[in-house]
Amino acid sequence: MKKPEPRLLTGSSLAMGLREIQTGVFGDPANTGVVSRETSVPLPAATEAPAATEAPAAKKPGKGKNVLETMDDSSPLGRELASEAKRREKLSGKELPKPSSTRIMTISNQKGGVGKTTTTVNIAAALATAGLQVLVIDIDPQGNASTALNIDHHADVDSIYDVLIDDVPLGDVVARCPDVPNLICAPATIHLAGAEIELVSLVAREQRLRRAIDVYARERESKGEPRLDFVFIDCPPSLGLLTVNAFVAAQEVLIPIQCEYYALEGLSQLLKNIEMIQKHLNADLVVSTILLTMYDGRTNLAAQVAAEVREHFPQQVLKAVVPRSVRISEAPSYQQTVMTYDPSSSGALSYQEAAAEIASRS
Ligand SMILES: Nc1ncnc2c1ncn2[C@@H]1O[C@H](COP(=O)(O)OP(=O)(O)O)[C@@H](O)[C@H]1O
Ligand SMILES: [Mg+2]
Repeated sequence: MKKPEPRLLTGSSLAMGLREIQTGVFGDPANTGVVSRETSVPLPAATEAPAATEAPAAKKPGKGKNVLETMDDSSPLGRELASEAKRREKLSGKELPKPSSTRIMTISNQKGGVGKTTTTVNIAAALATAGLQVLVIDIDPQGNASTALNIDHHADVDSIYDVLIDDVPLGDVVARCPDVPNLICAPATIHLAGAEIELVSLVAREQRLRRAIDVYARERESKGEPRLDFVFIDCPPSLGLLTVNAFVAAQEVLIPIQCEYYALEGLSQLLKNIEMIQKHLNADLVVSTILLTMYDGRTNLAAQVAAEVREHFPQQVLKAVVPRSVRISEAPSYQQTVMTYDPSSSGALSYQEAAAEIASRS
């Protein structure tokens, strides 16, 4: 008997629901500064497949001899190395354009473990390393972004909690990331866990982050400090008041999507919430960017999910795809981003590509 084809998301009620609300939430790309691209981008698996497993040989050639020279590119590994080398060459020496005004992006997905924090810190580090001025605001009580950027966030540190609840100026809590130039971070401490409830009774509870960022931007200007090019807000995996504050403060939403079977599960809820925010609190908000993460090039499923997401959101999905990579997952335990932990890894390369694409869309 013929085995039935695995059914992905096409034709499901979820997919149809997404299609219905898509136009409203994403706005007109022509008006949002998002560069329109061809809709049928070839699948990464077929062309520049990000390495599912690390391929260290090309990055750390042995003494005297470049491994690439010895590689037979008729083999899959050889092809992979050659493609990585090409991608690296494309990026090298490329200057990233500064946006005409500060771009505030919130990284959201109410699912946990989809790569929000990893995406936030690595895109931020890639842009900052390229010379742009970047602020990361950690509003997840877990403080994972603060950890990855090596920023103190124990209970006694002044943090984004104090900004949101006690009106402490944002400028008083930001700290420099010790490993990446041009990168600063407003850390989250464990106190933030209670903030969802404390915010409820406060005046302008949805606008507090936005106001804090506005005041901070003016303060920097009056002090003659360089204008921020990017602000990234790392959200908790929920759609509570902290996430609402991020949606109100931002102009753009970046949604990381894991290349797994249930990739789009819950996405329609997220998009509905964004639509509500657009209606009532922030008409300028658009979902400008979707990044496919944890892509496992060895499975057909990952390629199918990627194709599915691209079909629904052709304008928003970045060409760059982040592979599932051990180096990416190891980096936070050394309080690092993969950009500093292993800049020559395929994970770092993908995040650099994604950052370059985001910058070019301004
Ligand atoms: N591309 C990747 N390859 C391998 N592991 C990853 C990758 N991206 C994220 N991870 C790991 O997956 C886990 C969840 O990622 P995280 O960014 O913390 O998700 P979220 O912020 O959405 O909860 C973390 O342990 C992280 O190190
Ligand atoms: Mg997180």
